Amino acid sequence: MIKNITSVYGMHDYFFPDTLLWEYIENVIKDILNNYGYKEIKIPIIEKSILFKQMIGEMTDIVEKEMYNLYDKNGESLTLRPEGTVGCIRAMVEHNAFSSLNQRLWYNGPMFRYERPQKGRYRQFNQIGIEVLGLESPYIDAEIIIMTYHFWKKLNIINNIFLEINSIGSIQDREKYIKKLILYLEKHFHLLDEDCKRRIYTNPLRILDSKNPNIQQLLNRAPQLKNFLSTHCVVNLNKLCDILNTMKINFSINYRLVRGLDYYNDIVFEWITNQLGSHKTICGGGRYDKLVEKFSQKKNINGIGCAIGIERLILLIKNVNAIKLKTNYLIDIYLIPMNNNLTLHKTIYIREIIRKHFPLLKTVISYYFNNLKKQIIQAIKQKVRFLLIIGEKEINNNQLTIKDLFLKKQITFLEKELITKLIEILNY
Ligand code: HAM
Repeated sequence: MIKNITSVYGMHDYFFPDTLLWEYIENVIKDILNNYGYKEIKIPIIEKSILFKQMIGEMTDIVEKEMYNLYDKNGESLTLRPEGTVGCIRAMVEHNAFSSLNQRLWYNGPMFRYERPQKGRYRQFNQIGIEVLGLESPYIDAEIIIMTYHFWKKLNIINNIFLEINSIGSIQDREKYIKKLILYLEKHFHLLDEDCKRRIYTNPLRILDSKNPNIQQLLNRAPQLKNFLSTHCVVNLNKLCDILNTMKINFSINYRLVRGLDYYNDIVFEWITNQLGSHKTICGGGRYDKLVEKFSQKKNINGIGCAIGIERLILLIKNVNAIKLKTNYLIDIYLIPMNNNLTLHKTIYIREIIRKHFPLLKTVISYYFNNLKKQIIQAIKQKVRFLLIIGEKEINNNQLTIKDLFLKKQITFLEKELITKLIEILNY
């Protein structure tokens, strides 16, 4: 026997009823996405490493420290995807799928980042990602935010989550700003922590995100990105604020909100909760108007999107008890054939008849072949509502017996009455 083989550190297994909650949440989100006319795209979980390096940014934490890299048998460097945006754009460009300029897409699946695991931060986690290509107006930025707002409303966590938005300007705006920021940080180099010292020339904007209170204090006197924004970006931010106000969606502008991936410009946003210990982002995203162009210079196609961390969303929903799924009865009808071939065949046949007439019922056949008492104990453990017992006596008399484990009642009837009896019993 092989002992002690566990899952990979930071990667988790999920069991029922967590999987039920997971399915419910995904369905809520998918229904709303469908409602807004978004379409699913499926992309591989492994891509060429160069895709992430070039498109997310060599100096980001994700590329620098967190990628799961491997070599295939041809010696090609591949990476388990740390996020979905660049794979999605790669697929769209590769298949020239921009026939309609206005593409609204979503994807769902596992992402991999070699981070230090803690509550809500894992090495394998799942995202539902949303990408819109070919639209520039702040109205589409607002559409995505309004749609995510409806996710939280339907999932009953709207009071446990808040929205922060910002404009990080155009690439040119940021270049001008970064020069000034570096000058300021150099003057106060001795006050920086190790992390900020490391980032000063590689990714200085991320210093704005520092959680260190001393750094935050230092930044109070630093040049502010908002003062470097072009008129276009200021107008877009104001317009977005107007739309959100009209839609009565609460938000604050966090002028220090920058994102961890390099492809963003202009509007960025995060939905954050305080219910999971420190500030935790449940959903983050923003505009990436120059990303498609990086793949193909002929294509000047705007983009905006966001991604929701499903494990974090589940943690939040469980923490605030936002959703109570009915788990009183997990199986509607549990069919027990008493142990012989004839009763087994009959049971399989009866189950199919029930499924045909009541496709929403959950029916399970017991193959334990123990005595009836033991099988009933099994059924109770599995949260069964009705038992349908098929023994030799039932077959000989063309009868069936149904036992209601809740009302503790039992009825026997002719087999040909099965459907009418079930309608009565189930209150159809
Ligand atoms: P991101 O902010 O890196 O953005 O990730 C989005 C969400 O994924 C986070 O807000 C968080 O909920 C979840 N997440 C990230 N890392 C972890 C982790 N280690 N463990 C658990 N959950 C995690 C992106 O990935 C962008 N691609 C989003 C986007 C789409 N921007 C434009 N389009």
